Amino acid sequence: MAILPIITAPDPRLKLIAKPVDKVDDNLRKFLDDMLETMYDSEGIGLAATQVGDLRRVLVLDVAQKEGGKEPMFFINPEITWESPEENVYLEGCLSLPGQFADVVRPKTVKVKFLDYNGKAQEIEADELLATCIQHEIDHLNGVVFVDHISSMKRDIIMRKLKKEKRLAQTS
Ligand code: NI
Repeated sequence: MAILPIITAPDPRLKLIAKPVDKVDDNLRKFLDDMLETMYDSEGIGLAATQVGDLRRVLVLDVAQKEGGKEPMFFINPEITWESPEENVYLEGCLSLPGQFADVVRPKTVKVKFLDYNGKAQEIEADELLATCIQHEIDHLNGVVFVDHISSMKRDIIMRKLKKEKRLAQTS
């Protein structure tokens, strides 16, 4: 397995739309394993392929590790098929927006269909943190980051900070 470099905002590659995967094979599974290792290494709970510069519609998640266990989940070609009218708010962060957090309102429960690690079609109902995480990661596959859901004033503050940090990192 390998740790992949994570793209940080602002970067035009984070705005690209990913393309559906047509075959779940060992090559894809190796990439998913690398993504998972990269996510754990950065102490994230989710990672979309877009964030490592790959435009396949895949993402990895593990919301259990917050409680100390490990329960990796792999989603290939994920699609939300239903959203609850009920919403909730989570303080979201993102490995591509390091050190930045904001409250984001999203549907509390979603149904999502996808192919699993073995290429088998699945559909699950996700609630609370898992639902938020899935929506956050699917957004990445559509070129959307969590700050696109907040007020433009708050977004500008965060993007200015990230731009400045990037500039400092490049000159040091
Ligand atoms: Ni993210």
